[in-house]
Amino acid sequence: MLDRLKAGNAAWAADKVAADPNFFKRLEAQQAPEYLWIGCSDSRVPANEIVGLDPGELFVHRNVANLAPPQDANYLSVLQFAVEVLKVKHIMVVGHYGCGGIAAAVDGKRRGLVDHWLHPIREVHEDHLPELTAIPEEKARLDRLCELNVIRQVKNVASDVFVQDALARGQKVWVHGWVYSLGTGLVTDLDVTRGPAA
Ligand code: CO
Repeated sequence: MLDRLKAGNAAWAADKVAADPNFFKRLEAQQAPEYLWIGCSDSRVPANEIVGLDPGELFVHRNVANLAPPQDANYLSVLQFAVEVLKVKHIMVVGHYGCGGIAAAVDGKRRGLVDHWLHPIREVHEDHLPELTAIPEEKARLDRLCELNVIRQVKNVASDVFVQDALARGQKVWVHGWVYSLGTGLVTDLDVTRGPAA
C-alpha cells in the first residue's frame, strides 16, 4: 500500500541530500521561517511549492476556504506560535479562485458541519451583497467573493490580540492578502497589507 508515495519520499530525501548533505541535519536542529501561510486545504494549492520555498522556510496553516476565525483554537495556536516564538515577519492569507469552500458557503445546499465552518463566508457575502449581485456571471461573482473573504481574514489576523500585542512590543510583522489562480499558477497580491509603516 502507498508504495508510490514511499518511493517518492525516498527519492525526494535522496535528492535533497545530494544537493546539500547537511540539509536535514540543519532543519532538525532549528526551524526559523520568516513566513506564515494561511491557505485553503485544496490539494491544488500546495503552499511551499507555489512560492518556491524549501522545508523550514514557511510555517503553514491550511483549512477549508482559508479562514482565520477568532474562536478557532487550531488557527489561534498556529498564529500565537508563529508570531511569539518563530517571530515570523510576514503572514499571508492566501485564497484561490475556484475555491469549492467559497462556492459551498453560498449555494444553499446543506452538507452538515462544514456549513457552520463556512458561516463567516456567508457573513462576508451578506456584507457585500450589492457589489456581488451586480456581477452577472456566477464564476466571476464567486471569484470576487474569494477576494472579499481573503480581505476579511486579513482583517481578522491583523486585529488579533497576538498580532496587536506583537506590534505594541515593536515587533515587525505584516499581514498580506493574496489570491492564487489555479489556471495560471500565479498569485495576485490584493494590496491590503496591514502592519507597521514600511
Ligand atoms: Co479552496
